[in-house]
Order: sequence, then C-alpha cells, then structure tokens
Amino acid sequence: MFLTRIILPLCIVCTFASSNSQDTVKVSLYYEALCPYSQEFIKDQLFPGYQVLGDVLDLDLVPYGKAKMSNINGKWKLTCQHGPKECFGNKIQACVLDLNYTQAKSMNFIGCVMSTETPENKKIAKKCAEKNKLSWTDIKLCMNGEQVNEIMEKMGNKTNNLEPKMMYVPYILFNDIHDDDVEDEARENFLKTVCKMFKNKPPGCSDFN
Ligand SMILES: *[C@@H]1O[C@H](CO)[C@@H](O)[C@H](O)[C@H]1NC(C)=O
Ligand SMILES: *[C@@H]1O[C@H](CO)[C@@H](O)[C@H](O)[C@H]1NC(C)=O
Repeated sequence: MFLTRIILPLCIVCTFASSNSQDTVKVSLYYEALCPYSQEFIKDQLFPGYQVLGDVLDLDLVPYGKAKMSNINGKWKLTCQHGPKECFGNKIQACVLDLNYTQAKSMNFIGCVMSTETPENKKIAKKCAEKNKLSWTDIKLCMNGEQVNEIMEKMGNKTNNLEPKMMYVPYILFNDIHDDDVEDEARENFLKTVCKMFKNKPPGCSDFN
C-alpha cells in the first residue's frame, strides 16, 4: 500500500518527462537506387545516423528520383535516370516501404542494399531481406504483381508534387522544409545537422550539444 502510493506519483512524473523529450525530426529523402550520391548519403550519413538516433527520426523515404512514368495503352511504363536496373532497385525499396514493416526494419533493409555497389542485385536484396527478417516472398509478390505500379505512381506523384520542385537527387527535407545549405551540411555530417533540430536533445545527440 505504502509502496504503490510512492510509485504512482513518480510514474506520472516519468511519463510527463519522457513525453516531453519525445520530439521527432522528420527526414524526407527523395533519391534513386543507382545515383552514387544517394548511395553515399544513405551509406555514410542517414543509415549510421539512424543507428545512433533510432525512432526520434521520422523517416520518409521516396525511392523514385528523376524517374518518369507513363501509361501506354493501359500499360504502365517506368523509365529511370540510370536505366532499367535502377527501376528494379527503386521498386524493391518501394515495395519494402509499402509492406509497412517497422521503420527500423525498412531502414535496415534499405541501408543494407544501398551500402553495396549493386542495390539492384536480386541476390543482395534477398540477403539483406533475410538478414533483417523481412519476407522475401512478400517482396517478390509485390515486385511481380500489379500493385508495384501503383506504389511507384504514388512515389512519383509525391516527388512531382514537391514545392519547390525537386531539381536533383538526393533531395533532403527536414520537417518538410528544403534548404540547400542545410542539405549540404547534412550530406557532410547528418548527425550534427539533425541534432540541432531537436528541442530536447535525444541521447544520441550528446556529442553535439
Ligand atoms: C501500408 O500502409 C499504406 C498506408 O496506410 C497503405 O496504403 C498500404 O496499402 C499498406 N500496405 C500493405 C501491403 O498493406
Ligand atoms: C497520381 O496523380 C494523378 C494526377 O493527379 C492521379 O490521377 C492519380 O490517381 C495519382 N496516383 C496515385 C497512385 O496516387
């Protein structure tokens, strides 16, 4: 009895304290699988940064970039800046994102494939899926089905509806705002850049106070 009386008020304090410090920063990345700068940003900045900060980052990944989609006689045709291989790479990542895994799982998969020279390689994608406990069967079903076209159309619409327009990839927004200088800084040092944006610094930002 005595114990519960003490614990109860303490827990209320804890709840308030933790919900206060739970601000997140939204990071949107418009990119394409075979763009070397997209690969570099994910491999050297975003993925390691996410491993430090985790879900205080609210990730919004859009693997479409400068692709184009057209409907020819009722059939969807996707054309990608770096050719069909890139389309395949973009689609795998878009399918994973659409499968609504946890953010950590999707990021681990995307970080895994994008850290290789060939993110479009099916064997590598399968390995990355298995390593991170994503269902390769579900990913394949998505890739081979009709719905992948709709997913890519959704990604394309999102990309094309950006204001101001996306002129290059990777294109990075923080809390829905794009700023060239902030983007340049993030490509050099993502953690340092994003850590400035938290009102309450998460533990992973302790080096950047
Ligand atoms: C994942 O969530 C989105 C948005 O809620 C939804 O449109 C999509 O169909 C979901 N995907 C699957 C495979 O259920
Ligand atoms: C994409 O945008 C077009 C034009 O606004 C719209 O007709 C279409 O339904 C959108 N597709 C998806 C999948 O949201």
